[in-house]
This record gives sequence, C-alpha cells and structure tokens, in this order.
Amino acid sequence: MAKRLVLITGASAGIGTEFARQYAARGWDLALTARRADRLEALAKELKADAEVEILIIPKDLGEDGAVDAILKEISDAGRQVDGIVNNAGYGLAGTFFNTSWDDQAAFLQVLFTAPCELVHKALPGMKARNYGRIVNVASLAGYTPGSNGHTLYAPVKSAMIKFSESVHAEAEAMDADIHCTALCPGFTWTEFHDVNGTREMTKESPDWLWMEAQPVVEAGIEAVTRGQPVCVPGPVNKGLAALSRVLPEPIGRAVMKAQSKRFRKTDTA
Ligand SMILES: NC(=O)c1ccc[n+]([C@@H]2O[C@H](COP(=O)([O-])OP(=O)(O)OC[C@H]3O[C@@H](n4cnc5c(N)ncnc54)[C@H](OP(=O)(O)O)[C@@H]3O)[C@@H](O)[C@H]2O)c1
Repeated sequence: MAKRLVLITGASAGIGTEFARQYAARGWDLALTARRADRLEALAKELKADAEVEILIIPKDLGEDGAVDAILKEISDAGRQVDGIVNNAGYGLAGTFFNTSWDDQAAFLQVLFTAPCELVHKALPGMKARNYGRIVNVASLAGYTPGSNGHTLYAPVKSAMIKFSESVHAEAEAMDADIHCTALCPGFTWTEFHDVNGTREMTKESPDWLWMEAQPVVEAGIEAVTRGQPVCVPGPVNKGLAALSRVLPEPIGRAVMKAQSKRFRKTDTA
C-alpha cells in the first residue's frame, strides 16, 4: 500500500522546509511546492538520503491563475492522492494600504488566502471518499492581535485562516469523518520571513525570548493536527500572548499594538 502523501506549500524555506523534514521522518511521502525549484530539489535530495521517501517536486507561483489546479493535476498524474495538506506559503507585504498597489494586495490575498482555501476545497472530496485527511493551515499569532499601521491585510487574513480552519474541522466532525483541520499560529519564528519583508533590522531589537525555532513550531503543529485540535498556538510565550489578547479590553489592545508595531511593521516601501 502506498504511503500517505502530504502536499506542503512554501516548502523551499523556513517553516515549510521543516514540515517537509518532520513529515518525511514520520514516514509520509511528500509533494513539495514553492517558486524556487532549486531549493526544492536540494531539499528532496537531502531527505531522500535520510529516509525512504517518494517526493514530487512541483515548482509553482501560487499567485498565478490556475496554480492550484496545476499542482493537484501533477499529483494525480503521478498516480497519487492528497492525504495531507500544509498550507504554509506566505510573506508579509510591507507598507500601508495607502502606499501599496492593488495588484500587490490582490496577489497577497491570492497566495495567503484564496489559494489555500481552494486547495482544501478541491482536496476535500477525495479525503471524504477515503475517510482520511490531515490539514494544517499556517496562520499566525497576528490572527489574534488588533490590526496595525502597515502590513494591512496580514492580521485579517491570518484571523480568517483561524476561523476557516475551525469551520472545516467542525464540518468534518459533524460528518463523523476522520478529517482534521488545524490552524497553526506561530509567533516570531526564525526563518527567512523577516528578510523577505524587509523588517529584519527592526526585529533585531526584539528580545530573544519572543522567538522560536521552526522545529518546535512544526512539531506542535503536526501533533495538534494528528490529535484533532483545531487551533494550535506553539510555545508558552505565544500561548500567553494569545490568552492576553483575548482578555485585554479592545482599546488597550489597540494602544499596545500602536506602540509596539513600530518595532516590526514597516510602513514605507520606498
Ligand atoms: N516567521 C515568522 O515569524 C512567522 C510567524 C507567524 C506566521 N508565519 C507564517 O509562516 C508561513 C511560512 O513562513 P516562513 O516564516 O517559513 O517564511 P519564509 O522562510 O520566508 O518561507 C516562505 C515560503 O513561502 C513561499 N512563497 C512565498 N510566496 C510564494 C508564492 N507566490 N508562491 C508560492 N510559494 C510562495 C516561499 O517560497 P518561494 O520564495 O520559493 O516561492 C517560501 O518557501 C507563512 O504563512 C507566514 O505568514 C511566519
């Protein structure tokens, strides 16, 4: 019998690469996608040296029309089915809503929200027919915090990913299907994320205890989806911040965000 296969988006760096390592170590086959094919090839080579794992490399830009259909077609053309999804690809769009173009905002929504929802929607019928599915949507602690000056749609999209995951999980539960869906909500994590969005220098000011390595973040996510927990906030500091955001009166939360966001939100894109 073929092993389970998990499709991981944004597998060429950071949290996605770590998901690939940990799922391979747990005996899953992988379908890896991102734009940088060379990174995916190198990762596949590394993982195949360590474990007996079948790996499909599917280089794609999730911002392009038809990307999700093309990825799913490559998997089915290879004679495989999607048993797991890690919707992880993402980035932060620096700047304000006032000084960024609609094209950039639309591409952001496509990559971080529309494509992940489309992937889940199109994989669910197969998962339902086989009565098995494990879906991780990489959201963020930002999904709990008030909106900030700059990076305008990031918090709303991550908040939506949390609600989306809870709903898919609840729908599967109501059908009594063995399909789990989990929103993984990391806080600051050491990856390329802050290099890509140009905030590395700013975030260097933040204390080390706010940061986690990708390894425990991903481990928490895989354990949560395995046991069927709809939302997972990894690490005690992030758990504390998420709890605080729920009890803090909204005006105070907004004031804290206003004061602190200058340290990690870039508002000029020049
Ligand atoms: N790092 C943090 O502090 C942090 C905190 C909370 C949540 N997160 C979330 O964690 C997820 C992973 O981020 P990361 O921290 O691992 O960042 P990262 O190291 O920069 O990795 C981002 C991944 O997304 C892929 N990607 C970006 N745009 C893409 C596109 N248009 N099409 C396809 N793939 C694309 C990149 O691959 P290519 O460039 O090769 O396409 C890369 O593999 C994101 O959803 C992010 O919002 C991160």
